[in-house]
Amino acid sequence: MRIGILGAGRMGGTLGSLLTAQGHQVTFAYARNREKLERLVVAAGPGGRVGTPSEAVAEADLVLLAVHWLQLDDVLAQAGSLAGRTVLSCCNPLDADDRELLIGHFDSGAENLARRLPDSRLVAAFQATPSEVLRSVYDNRADPLRPSQLLCGDDATAKGQVAGLITELGFEPVDAGPLRVARYLEPFGMLSGVLAYETDHGPEWAYRCARLDRLFEVARR
Ligand SMILES: NC(=O)c1ccc[n+]([C@@H]2O[C@H](COP(=O)([O-])OP(=O)(O)OC[C@H]3O[C@@H](n4cnc5c(N)ncnc54)[C@H](OP(=O)(O)O)[C@@H]3O)[C@@H](O)[C@H]2O)c1
Repeated sequence: MRIGILGAGRMGGTLGSLLTAQGHQVTFAYARNREKLERLVVAAGPGGRVGTPSEAVAEADLVLLAVHWLQLDDVLAQAGSLAGRTVLSCCNPLDADDRELLIGHFDSGAENLARRLPDSRLVAAFQATPSEVLRSVYDNRADPLRPSQLLCGDDATAKGQVAGLITELGFEPVDAGPLRVARYLEPFGMLSGVLAYETDHGPEWAYRCARLDRLFEVARR
């Protein structure tokens, strides 16, 4: 798949590198310094390249949006049209201090974003997974007891594409339904931040949704 990464930081840089390792053609874009993007591409290996936001979007089958909420206007202006693209967003609608959600209850960041991108197929995922755990999950992808990854969106084809990538990354995709479910996923993202950075759990944790019988069945294998 051709993947454009808009925001090559902790989430975008890591997910982009792992997807490059999986054989995808990944264009890393949007950082304050191009050398950082170039270092990322060298580390990611063949299949990765550096581009501008518009280059990252131009040829992409799927675009990963991984910027701070307050940078969205800027990155979308630089990217140009995302019409016809599947857009995977891991963005939580956080204030400048990363302390509070700016949107919630009767709306979500993902729905707000979808209204700005009416011709794209938006899927929300990774809102509640700390970047620090992504590589370990990937390295343990042969383990049958995989962590879950909740996703939501209104387009079945786009969700299928994202679920495929989630599986490649070592998670078990859990389709939580339409995009409006992001109203609950984004507060869960806040909880994940509390667990990661305000308790002694540390950031290397992931969650698993399981029926109890299935959980025991996998654990016994
Ligand atoms: N970090 C997590 O564990 C986590 C987990 C779940 C969801 N999220 C969500 O994922 C999104 C990305 O988070 P993150 O932690 O990956 O952020 P991050 O590490 O700060 O990365 C953001 C990227 O945007 C770039 N950027 C910021 N301002 C820019 C500007 N003015 N011009 C050009 N590029 C600019 C950064 O460039 P530089 O590289 O130059 O800084 C970086 O590449 C956020 O919406 C967050 O809520 C994060």
